[in-house]
Amino acid sequence: MKVTVVGAGAVGATCADNIARREICDELVLLDIKEGVAEGKAMDLMQTAQLEGFDTRITGSTNDYSKTAGSTVAVITSGIPRKPGMTREELIGINAGIVKTVTENLLKHSPEVIIVVISNPMDTMTYLALKSSGIPKNRIIGMGGILDSARFRFYLSQALHCSPNDLQATVVGGHGDTTMIPLTRLATYCGTPVSQHLDEARLKKVAADTMVGGATLTGLLGTSAWYAPGSAGATLVEAIIRDEKKLMPCCVYHEGEYGLSDICIGVPVIIGRNGWEKIVDFQLDETEKAALVKSADAVNSMNSVLSTLSI
Ligand code: 2OP
Repeated sequence: MKVTVVGAGAVGATCADNIARREICDELVLLDIKEGVAEGKAMDLMQTAQLEGFDTRITGSTNDYSKTAGSTVAVITSGIPRKPGMTREELIGINAGIVKTVTENLLKHSPEVIIVVISNPMDTMTYLALKSSGIPKNRIIGMGGILDSARFRFYLSQALHCSPNDLQATVVGGHGDTTMIPLTRLATYCGTPVSQHLDEARLKKVAADTMVGGATLTGLLGTSAWYAPGSAGATLVEAIIRDEKKLMPCCVYHEGEYGLSDICIGVPVIIGRNGWEKIVDFQLDETEKAALVKSADAVNSMNSVLSTLSI
């Protein structure tokens, strides 16, 4: 089994590191356009193999997609990250051309590949990868909801002074500071509604902190985060390769589900060996439905920018 990670920056390299340690494929290719960077990071990672006890074979490539041939899954992390004060949406002009080219190159050498999109603005990049490639919709998955839900659990765990592993919490909608929707009503602590443990003001603060979780880190780090995004990408790759049938919030193409069409946006889906296999209906209440419609409007207006770009 072979996996490719395109983009050997912080997110791509962290994703590759997590995939290698989880031993979910025997071959892992890291690819970047910058001469030597992917080779260097692949070699550095390989030198942790004995220390970490994994046997995944990692190789690097400077823009030679023939090395990625026969990949089962490919993760796209390429593009510029945001700087403090920037939204994910502001990256569209540069990242759209990159994501389109990367998708084309991957498919030339791995026509059956399942593509995981991490590059921002993620919902629009997922839509672009799907529309420009024309491959079946189940094979293109944006990772954002897995990351946003992990952040939601983190902030809930801080408020509850509990382990994030005792929490179930899902974020749907777009992967943007104002478009994501933490589903507080449905979040549970060991099976009990979190509203039994936290008052409304605390829950509102948790949701607000979750929505700007990425921006908070960008402010602290001077660039976007990489540990949680890389880990979330690896978690998605693992669910595909191991055919886990896990329920994960991911950005996928809609044809009427949740009342939405011709858009890629985050909803709960079953992930398995065929990519995303089914959208699960969480029976949103009226407020949540209205928030999803508003989020979809924002994602749609970002998608409409694609037609103005010369890519
Ligand atoms: C984040 O939210 C990189 O979009 C990613 O950190």
